[in-house]
Amino acid sequence: MGGQKIGIVGSGLIGRAWAMLFASAGYRVQLYDILESQVTTALDGLREELQQLEAKGALRGKLTAAAQYELISGCTQLKELVQDALHIQECVPEQLQLKRSLYAQLDVLLEPQTVLASSTSTFMPSLYSESLERRSQMLVAHPLNPPYFIPLVELVPAPWTTEEAVERTRQLMLALGQRPVVLRREIQGFATNRIQYAILNEVWRLVSAGIISVADADRVLSDGLGMRYALMGSLETVHLNAPGGIADYFQRFGGEIAAVSATYGPTPDMGAEAESLAEIARQCEQLVPLEALQARRAARDEFLTRLAELKRQFP
Ligand code: NAI
Repeated sequence: MGGQKIGIVGSGLIGRAWAMLFASAGYRVQLYDILESQVTTALDGLREELQQLEAKGALRGKLTAAAQYELISGCTQLKELVQDALHIQECVPEQLQLKRSLYAQLDVLLEPQTVLASSTSTFMPSLYSESLERRSQMLVAHPLNPPYFIPLVELVPAPWTTEEAVERTRQLMLALGQRPVVLRREIQGFATNRIQYAILNEVWRLVSAGIISVADADRVLSDGLGMRYALMGSLETVHLNAPGGIADYFQRFGGEIAAVSATYGPTPDMGAEAESLAEIARQCEQLVPLEALQARRAARDEFLTRLAELKRQFP
């Protein structure tokens, strides 16, 4: 029953989210994990999550929760997982040695038609695929958490990844209703984290210099910049902000941007700056106590669903 087969390696947070996304588009999904108990837990969790989404009217795709769940099965043999797979999405913990040994195992099993994509948020694909036979079929497809509610997927090829593998993955992501972006070559941090870290760096500097509170620094994004960024990116935003568009904007404000940028301090080493870290954590935990994180995540996800609906109406 169902469409083409998708294999998922690692049935944790991200593996489960991918399983739901692929099933929502009618693909047959097989979930692999090292422990059988882990697979069983994942399948039970998925059944419950799909039902909850359906009850809330937030289920993606045209099939019922029960029909989507029917498309998902588990296995504990890599050999079984790779068989006849169109695409394999790797979602094991973020440890380079673990990924390297897993990719070496997958390399000998992989069929010629299968694309193998990693969900990694930090490792460039060349770091684990360089010496492998089937390296031209491997790339990174990096989602953002929670993938079920945030459509972006960054596709990052290694120097030897074929254009066909990238394009096929792009089409597959579109078929899921995700919004893929393609990097033409690999770079540390990909695009999303490079941009996210630039923001975090400046927020850190402003807060640790005592210029602004954690709550207000976050509001600059959530009540200000982020309102526009939810609809359009930073370049289109400034394109709309000058009578003659973006060229006019940068001619007018380029000097000011450079002048302000020259006052940015050095890159903070956040884990090592104990005093700033303690103060930022104190303020953040005052806003959202650690015991309230789960409830806050649930509220975020619920509103992301509604935001996604609203965004679909924006041309
Ligand atoms: P997780 O810890 O929730 O799940 C990892 C799963 O992999 C566990 O079920 C574990 O049993 C399994 N596993 C461990 N060793 C294995 C092996 N050798 N073979 C098969 N399965 C194995 O981790 P999570 O958060 O789902 O992350 C997975 C990947 O997704 C990582 O590369 C991470 O960087 C990436 N990612 C995570 C995001 C997040 O917010 N958590 C966001 C975007 C990407």
